[in-house]
Amino acid sequence: MSLKLLKNMKLFSGSSNKSLAEEIASDLHLLISPSETVRFADGEVRVRISDDVKDQHVILVQSLSQPGDSNLMELCQFAQVLKKEKAGKITAIIPYLSYARQHKAHRAGEAVSVALVASFLKTSGISECVLLDIHEQDALNYFKMPVLHLSASDIFAEYIDSHRDDFGEDNLVIVAPDKGRKLEAENLASDLEAGFAVIDKLRHLDKTDEIDHNVLTGEVKNKEAVIFDDMISTGATAISAAEKCKENGAFHAYLLATHGVFSKTDNSHWENSAVDRVFVSNSIQIPAEKRYNKLENV
Ligand code: R5P
Repeated sequence: MSLKLLKNMKLFSGSSNKSLAEEIASDLHLLISPSETVRFADGEVRVRISDDVKDQHVILVQSLSQPGDSNLMELCQFAQVLKKEKAGKITAIIPYLSYARQHKAHRAGEAVSVALVASFLKTSGISECVLLDIHEQDALNYFKMPVLHLSASDIFAEYIDSHRDDFGEDNLVIVAPDKGRKLEAENLASDLEAGFAVIDKLRHLDKTDEIDHNVLTGEVKNKEAVIFDDMISTGATAISAAEKCKENGAFHAYLLATHGVFSKTDNSHWENSAVDRVFVSNSIQIPAEKRYNKLENV
């Protein structure tokens, strides 16, 4: 295959999602520009680039997955040095944006973390961002730069459509695991001509992974339930929603989520859970030790 390099464009990858950066580079017929990221024993990070970037349009790919703070710092250092070396424009592709759940003070006295993240990105020199399924659209207001906000919804819809045998031809119901996901789940249900249900979720704000799923509204009895969420962190939301669906008579409970954060150190709790299969995008590179039988990349 002949490689046609785009003129005046360079692509750098942070360390968090190199496989996605490679796919993007290949789609753009670019090579990933050389760089070096060193993490010291105390966790501090140092970035170095060695290409000439003067007047270039630079694409930076970095997911803010775990270790989120360190990956954010790495991204900001890339932007800072690119700006110092006079890059013409810096586009950051951030498939997973951390801290987006803290888009407001949920209780008096809390900090609004995503506002800080947006200002770090701006201050470090990033000109524009590409984001994917940010937890809450309100968070976009903190970005004082152009943002292209993409959704994985269409990809999930295509996937289900082309695997109808697995998901059930006409007894599919899309389930929002909390009211915050109602609109997205309703849209997916309408694209797939499927039923729709929503669950009331109560998260105990003083504990991180305790969920009460109270009332399920909609019909899941004798149906294939597909829970649709933006992200999986501990898995508490999804597992509890799947239990609720099965208590209400669903045959199976599947989970679609854009971001597989998987914040627990091991994923054994999924194996015996009420969730039958889990589908995530590649916005976050999932390490081998966190992969488990039920998990698939779409
Ligand atoms: C919350 O509102 C989000 O949409 C997700 O449902 C949540 O962050 C998932 O977290 P966990 O897997 O820890 O329940």
